[in-house]
Amino acid sequence: MSITERRILLHGIDREDSAAIDTYLADGGYRALEKALKEMQPSEVVAEVAKARIRGRGGAGFEAGRKWGFLPKQNEKPVYLTCNGDESEPGTFKDRHIMERRPHLLLEGCLITCYAIGARTGYIYVRGEFPHAQAALEKAIEEARERGYLGGDILGTGVSIDLFVHTGAGAYVCGEETGMLSSIEGNRGNPRLKPPFPAVEGLFRCPTIVNNVETLSNVPFVIREGAEEFLKLGTEDTPGTRIFCVSGHVERPGAYEFECGVNLKDVIEYAGGVWKGRKLKAVIPGGLSAHVLLPDEIDVACDFGSLARAGTIMGSCGVMVLDETVCMVRALQNALEFFSHESCGQCTPCREGTDWARKVVTRIEAGKGTEADVDKLYEIADNYEGMGGKTICALADAAAWPVKSYVTKFREEFLMHVRQGRCPLGG
Ligand SMILES: Cc1cc2nc3c(=O)[nH]c(=O)nc-3n(C[C@H](O)[C@H](O)[C@H](O)COP(=O)(O)O)c2cc1C
Ligand code: SF4
Repeated sequence: MSITERRILLHGIDREDSAAIDTYLADGGYRALEKALKEMQPSEVVAEVAKARIRGRGGAGFEAGRKWGFLPKQNEKPVYLTCNGDESEPGTFKDRHIMERRPHLLLEGCLITCYAIGARTGYIYVRGEFPHAQAALEKAIEEARERGYLGGDILGTGVSIDLFVHTGAGAYVCGEETGMLSSIEGNRGNPRLKPPFPAVEGLFRCPTIVNNVETLSNVPFVIREGAEEFLKLGTEDTPGTRIFCVSGHVERPGAYEFECGVNLKDVIEYAGGVWKGRKLKAVIPGGLSAHVLLPDEIDVACDFGSLARAGTIMGSCGVMVLDETVCMVRALQNALEFFSHESCGQCTPCREGTDWARKVVTRIEAGKGTEADVDKLYEIADNYEGMGGKTICALADAAAWPVKSYVTKFREEFLMHVRQGRCPLGG
């Protein structure tokens, strides 16, 4: 089936001046902020966002409005908004497009959210490798300040909100929300035990909301058009659109915005299909941590619920397409090199387990493994998976899911490496 893009977040990004404030204003930008500040109480903004059921685009799919509702009702401390623009999940490049090409959309989303949750200050945490995003956001903040949309007494309403860009230094674990908070505080980006959750005790031990760039960029539409209009997009499970980052072995890799619920097969076709007339071998649908899908498993709707029922995750919507030439043992080795390197080392199962699994898969890849090693690989991942509260953060889970799904679904390929003492694909 042929599908069409529905560009709301990526509206007009092909234009040369898409990042400029005048372009944004001409497209109706900052009207939602004005509406929120002048016509709505903060609690009404929270209620509208809750009604729209915007599910977190950072990966877990938790509803933004519900999260905002967890802030303590009785509170003397400052409240903070932290926007997660670390975009560290391999295969994901959606937030970068918003930050670089539509920075005012994100600023408007952050400003409305700050108003709703009672925050005077918000931080946008941008990964260190994104200098263009940092520059675009800094420029946009200055433009918004000059025009009275940000800073003291916004639009003469008496509301004052400041936003700051904080840059990371390039660590996967700084995308984990509490790791990000540690990093903003000027410490090593180590994740922290939860509870307390950030909404109760977050940045500088004050109540803090953490939301992803794409999540917050949906807020202006919800306030301007109303939750009912947002709910008309996508599916009941996952309303709205999502930016699909299609990479790997397709003819036209790129960031495409579709309504949620679009079929994964159609998304891949839209990106030109598998390149060079080759056959499809596997698809990773939601960033490197997602369980891999086989070609006969990709006829599935892309929303959080449908992909969970298909045994994987929607995650960050990083769709990686692997053609028939890919060695799945080498692919897993590559993934484990990443995860073991990025483990912060605080939890023994994660620190030791990811590295042990990396060593075992490296042995198999080099043709020096045994059949017992293949089972051992699964067992190690099963043990370091943090689901049972064994680890502080979910990096251990993120590293376990690919191991378990690759070894299960491509077991024969792993065994052939052992039996032939080399890669059967000649890699
Ligand atoms: C290891 C790890 C890395 C993560 N990286 C990111 C990231 O780069 N960007 C992001 O928005 N969320 C990331 N998350 C999820 C965040 O912890 C958090 O759930 C999210 O920022 C909340 O925003 P949302 O509710 O709007 O999705 C990561 C989680 C883990 C465990
Ligand atoms: S699970 Fe891994 S990355 Fe997360 S805190 Fe523990 S050691 Fe660090």
